[in-house]
Amino acid sequence: TDRYAVFGSPIKHSKSPRIHRLFAEQTGQALSYEALEVTAEAFPDEVGGFFAAGGKGLNCTVPLKELAYRFAGVKTERAERSKAVNTLALQTDGTVLGDNTDGCGLVTDLLSNHQLTLAGKRVLILGAGGASRGIIGPILEQAPSRLVIANRTADKAVSLAEEFSTRGDISGCGFEALAQSQFDLILNATSASLSGQLPPLPDHLLAGQGSCYDLAYGNEPTAFVRWGIAHGARLSLDGLGMLVEQAAEAFLIWRGVRPQTRPVIELLDQERK
Ligand code: ATR
Repeated sequence: TDRYAVFGSPIKHSKSPRIHRLFAEQTGQALSYEALEVTAEAFPDEVGGFFAAGGKGLNCTVPLKELAYRFAGVKTERAERSKAVNTLALQTDGTVLGDNTDGCGLVTDLLSNHQLTLAGKRVLILGAGGASRGIIGPILEQAPSRLVIANRTADKAVSLAEEFSTRGDISGCGFEALAQSQFDLILNATSASLSGQLPPLPDHLLAGQGSCYDLAYGNEPTAFVRWGIAHGARLSLDGLGMLVEQAAEAFLIWRGVRPQTRPVIELLDQERK
């Protein structure tokens, strides 16, 4: 059977093996998929060893996406733009393709699963690290009226926004600059979320009928999901749907078939309740 895996650290609680096994079952594909603890230091050896031993494809998660980007022999345009790779796929010619399915997974979850359109909307992204970088391109493609990146370290948000400035109305700032602004959709892409922390957000940041989305997920609602609920969000969602949608895109790249995501999202959502 063809061998796949997810590399990352920490990786113990990864839902990716469960998701890909469900996809394989649903589409009748014979494959194995495991989660392997791989640190940044170990990555070069481990990734080389994996493909040398006949592995067909890898997902790479925190903190390996930039390293995976550098490892990939060929890259898709969206991977090139985000400078991060979450999916590696062995090609028939022996080269390894690097792609980034995170942004596409997010947009699919927003649009297809939640009917949250971005066109003409004021969108705010919290955080200017790797997670933020991966979603900016696909969000700008949806033509929001404006996209603001706010970050604890304002400079990082400003330079990240500059990188994408030819692709839409995008700007970067620090959290204190948000005082008078309102947004229809706020996305949390800070790693603070994982430790239950929240950036300092003004009370009236979310517009009426606005929604919140945390790229992180957990068995309990994240601090940001709770912030959204407390501030009247129409929808306040976590990243479970994005996780399943980015996995479906990776599965499509590897196997040539896109699994149905809805039943998998519903099952995983049930399992955490
Ligand atoms: P990732 O790949 O998960 O995005 P990263 O590249 O290390 O990880 O980026 C982490 C992001 O979370 C950054 O935007 C970081 O802000 P700084 O650039 O100012 O460091 C943000 N972050 C981490 N902890 C935070 C906290 N306690 N409050 C606000 N932002 C935080």
